[in-house]
Amino acid sequence: MSETIDLRSDTVTLPPPEMRQAMYEAELGDDVYGEDPTVNRLQERAAEITGKQDAMFVSSGTQGNLVAVLTHCTRGDEIVVGDQSHILHFEVGGASALAGAQVRTVPNQPDGTLDPSDVKRVIRDRTDVHNPFTTLICLENTQNRCGGLVLGPEYTRKIQELAHEHGAAVHLDGARLFNAAVALGVPASALTAGADSVTFCASKGLAAPVGSVLCGSKEFIREAHRWRKMMGGGMRQAGVIAAGALYALDNMVERMADDHHLAKKLAGALAAIPGIDLDPGRVQTNIIIFSVAPSGCSSSEIVARMASRGVLSDALDSSRIRVVTHYGIEEPQVERAITQIAAAMRG
Ligand SMILES: Cc1ncc(COP(=O)(O)O)c(C=O)c1O
Repeated sequence: MSETIDLRSDTVTLPPPEMRQAMYEAELGDDVYGEDPTVNRLQERAAEITGKQDAMFVSSGTQGNLVAVLTHCTRGDEIVVGDQSHILHFEVGGASALAGAQVRTVPNQPDGTLDPSDVKRVIRDRTDVHNPFTTLICLENTQNRCGGLVLGPEYTRKIQELAHEHGAAVHLDGARLFNAAVALGVPASALTAGADSVTFCASKGLAAPVGSVLCGSKEFIREAHRWRKMMGGGMRQAGVIAAGALYALDNMVERMADDHHLAKKLAGALAAIPGIDLDPGRVQTNIIIFSVAPSGCSSSEIVARMASRGVLSDALDSSRIRVVTHYGIEEPQVERAITQIAAAMRG
């Protein structure tokens, strides 16, 4: 039986041996006292890469986004998010349950953006006593549920201008920020310049086992530390995991171009399989979303057939399936996935 090809997500990546070694050897201290040298190095490096004044290591992307909402907003404020955003779909309603923010959605456009005129339309008039304050606009780069689409630097800056004009801030969910930077061939800081705060994840395509970083101004991060502590996120000798993230920033960013190349190759082949509806021209990074509606089968049925042939994928809804390329998936796995998916579609 050949190995399983796990295309469910880039979160399944395992750390390379050199990363494990760096974690083993990490210099440690108590990070709640600010004394873990490895965490401190990671935070300095993350701030530098994103062009922000400061940064804070967090346990996950979800925690980073939640702490950002808690820090930007007070209870009863309204946050604007895309109707395909991770914050809306997959973060357990934390923004409302724990931060007390009312979540207002605007549609994600086919290119993953929020239309600035939609954003402008939903920003509240602060002079009307009935209204909550719109204090935060959340963007996502790359946009996961739109198929890993990339938002350009000018777009993000435009949304920030609009937000600032109305007394709101911009938070960027940059779980896959480096996929976007590599795809566009720009430094990550170009993509974060238009955001007041940003979360990026080391635990996805960068292949670290755990951890994300929230970046922003000195004042923002000072306040964010209190919220992280309240959320139980004050970790002690966290350098042992931060070392994985540091290694990832130094060694795992450029190679994501290979993931993007393989995703395009896979998409091109899937588009030619009868029963699959996919425009390979829409694949910009490592995420491919395709519909199996023309086959007359449900996505869960096809996902199960693929799994029985050793290819794991994720059903997004009743007709769409997501597959993701990542560290550990190479040309031979992609070739085999194409053959097995074609067979699964035949029945
Ligand atoms: C766009 C986006 N934001 C945030 C997250 C949350 O990250 P975590 O799983 O580390 O909480 C994810 C996870 O897949 C994601 O895709």
